[in-house]
Amino acid sequence: MNIVVLISGRGSNLEAMLLHQEGYQVKHVISNNLKAKGLEVAQKHGVTNTYIKWSNLQLAEKKLSAIIQQCNADLIVLAGFMRILSPSFVHQFKNKIINIHPSLLPKYPGLDTHKKVLLNQDEYHGATVHIVDEQLDHGRILAQIRFKISRSDDAESLAKKLIHREHKLLTTTIGLIVSGNIELNSDVHMKINQPEYKPFLIQ
Ligand code: GRF
Repeated sequence: MNIVVLISGRGSNLEAMLLHQEGYQVKHVISNNLKAKGLEVAQKHGVTNTYIKWSNLQLAEKKLSAIIQQCNADLIVLAGFMRILSPSFVHQFKNKIINIHPSLLPKYPGLDTHKKVLLNQDEYHGATVHIVDEQLDHGRILAQIRFKISRSDDAESLAKKLIHREHKLLTTTIGLIVSGNIELNSDVHMKINQPEYKPFLIQ
């Protein structure tokens, strides 16, 4: 399975993927941010990487789409990619784009998820891997990981506790896709609130 990874920052999820390449290969890393540490991560692992300026969305997506096609990519992974893809791009690669988000979706799409769980006095915090659709942090949930919040936690400690769990979630989920245990092209349009819908809970 050929994978293209999109990043904007540190690239720790990207690095976890690069260290676990079994049954898949990261072919190309793309960043909308020239200064993203993740570009250095790609470099260190000898993976082709490209900075795409994102000031013109149509142009940026045209370049992105050309790279995805050149790589024969089966899967596009958004690993800390801080730009919203257009509905036409999402449609072009329907059920081929996945995203990792640091909350137990459908709770807390968007930013500041660690602060939001604390404000809401939630019992659990976690992360989600989902299929990307036209709405932000929204498509079909594939897998989640969670842990109990302790009274002494603040946003910083939650972020620290979550990030290594994210690495496990992302690499395990990709492994489940590679092995066919998670079906991306499922025609069953499962709604996340339906009782029969059960995303994988990674332990
Ligand atoms: C992660 O928390 C991911 O869930 C979110 O952005 C962060 C990226 O971290 N979408 P890194 O660049 O992979 O270290």
